[in-house]
Amino acid sequence: MRMLTRITLALAIALATVAFAQGAAIDCITDEPATITYIGDPVANLGETEQDTAAAFMEACPHITVEIIPGPASTSELLANYLVMFEGRSGDIDVLRVDVIHPGILADNLVDLLPYFSDEELAAHFPGYIENTMVGDRMVAIAFRLGAGMLYYRTDLLEEYGFDGPPATWDDLESMAATIQAGERAAGNADFWGFVWQGDNYEGLTCNALEWQVSEGGGTVVNRELEPEVNNDATLRAMERAAGWVGTISPPGVTGYREEDARAVWHVGNAAFMRNWPYAMASSATSEAIADVWEVAPLPAGASGTYAATMGGWTLGVNRYSANVDAAVAFAKHFASYEEQKRRAVENAINPTIADLYEDADVIAAVPAFAGLNEVFMGATPRPSTATGAQYDQVSSLYSTAVHAVLTGELDADTALTLLELDLEALLGN
Ligand code: GLC
Repeated sequence: MRMLTRITLALAIALATVAFAQGAAIDCITDEPATITYIGDPVANLGETEQDTAAAFMEACPHITVEIIPGPASTSELLANYLVMFEGRSGDIDVLRVDVIHPGILADNLVDLLPYFSDEELAAHFPGYIENTMVGDRMVAIAFRLGAGMLYYRTDLLEEYGFDGPPATWDDLESMAATIQAGERAAGNADFWGFVWQGDNYEGLTCNALEWQVSEGGGTVVNRELEPEVNNDATLRAMERAAGWVGTISPPGVTGYREEDARAVWHVGNAAFMRNWPYAMASSATSEAIADVWEVAPLPAGASGTYAATMGGWTLGVNRYSANVDAAVAFAKHFASYEEQKRRAVENAINPTIADLYEDADVIAAVPAFAGLNEVFMGATPRPSTATGAQYDQVSSLYSTAVHAVLTGELDADTALTLLELDLEALLGN
């Protein structure tokens, strides 16, 4: 069942000067003065809320200064920066923002956080997000944000063109997007597109393509036995279908789009549908063009009969070469705490990893979609990063490169998937 939820964030955001600083006491862990650095999130307005989190910490621990250094928006580039930093055993960045797919790759360079948390503190988080940061018996990061791919759609346009609700299947999405796009263009908006998503060759394309593939019944790229799952009819169909969107219902330039490129088109009212993560809800709710005329729904289903949402999200790790490990851990703990996850949920619709916050009255009042899309968040499909561990980044870049070649027409899907399977077999030794 589709749960369609109206987002009425604008008001909540306008009122979100709520002070959470009086919540549970903040543990500074150390009395030593220190300056620590954190790699901040430059996407949309996430940085402002992170500044508030840092300010609350510095108020409680005035001997610790937190400097936020904006990192790249692309998770692939962020990882590359970390790997260069660790190559030189540098302690320049104390607290790292680590994508849910990267704890395995970075583990050797991160502090074990387990001794700093009580069982009760850890039990408050969704278990999958804690398991995901366990490498052997060490917890190398702490989860602070959950993510899942979802469909944003324009309620006003669906109504205008006579559609009852969001598309149930990819076929529905294609025909609805084509109808609305043709109508809007005929009405004079030459820049209007049916569907925007992330088609650049990077981790975001891996996330989009996994959703197409899994919803079609094509498997999860690499299974638990480390066997490739890409060279099959369902995946072929899924990739060919997506290639058909490029230049028809999606801009030709979508093969260079990342999250913020898709959001830019959507934000000004030039798209009927967008695939994106939950972070785009807050800015959509304050967009001059579309604030009151959009909703979110699960992504469309493919031949498997159901939709798939890629599991995303973020964690914090502490650099083991840091000169101020205790201060860095104190900040990471504060960042991932109930109070701060609540602050970011209310101010910015950022999905918490703490289960109780989805039943917190203030959070649900600010972001009703959190209740309606619970199934999407909890049932999300992980990328094969646990099975492939330190090799995940190579797996993902082989996959996104092959998919990108199909999208741009450089290779036909059959050739691309046959070669991809061989490459994955060679990499994983199967
Ligand atoms: C989002 C997700 C993250 C994913 C990235 C891809 O930030 O939370 O897990 O890897 O997008 O671009």
